[in-house]
Amino acid sequence: MLLTEARRKLERKKAAATPHPSGDKRLVILDTFMKRQQFRGDALIEVLHKAQELFGFLDDGLLLYIAKSLKLPPSRVYGVATFYHFFSLKPQGEHNCVVCLGTACYVKGADKIMAALEKRTGIKSGETTPDNKLSLVTARCIGACGIAPAVVYDGTVAAKQTPDSALAAVEKLLTAPCNSKT
Ligand code: FES
Repeated sequence: MLLTEARRKLERKKAAATPHPSGDKRLVILDTFMKRQQFRGDALIEVLHKAQELFGFLDDGLLLYIAKSLKLPPSRVYGVATFYHFFSLKPQGEHNCVVCLGTACYVKGADKIMAALEKRTGIKSGETTPDNKLSLVTARCIGACGIAPAVVYDGTVAAKQTPDSALAAVEKLLTAPCNSKT
């Protein structure tokens, strides 16, 4: 266990010291992470998480790089990245709001919540407000069907939401001081 941690530290140190041909140190760290996963295709989700942690979002070039490294078809990598709501293909706003549109939430009015939020913010799902304050995202199921309809505000799941409660929560986010996540 200790040995594994020591080896990881050494790998990280080596990665930080080795220049990547692109000049981007984050790719060196990503390469090291993929190497540790033995470039296995079934480690794709972990690799995407790591890439998003390093880059903030997953753009086309990064997805292609991962596809090539893991020897996977780009369509598979793109498909996984777009399927899960926690992956973002665009730069994210200061705050984010994820509306679950899975079946349990949908039948309890999640579509009305989404419509109210889109109207208030002037953006659609997958977009960020022009002032970069808020990103609006939809998910297929966040595993909280028992408290449907569920909405996630800056990583905190809120139960039994209504258009009014969602608008109030988003209003709070939009008026929060810069970099304050309430
Ligand atoms: S459908 Fe929304 S949490 Fe499962």
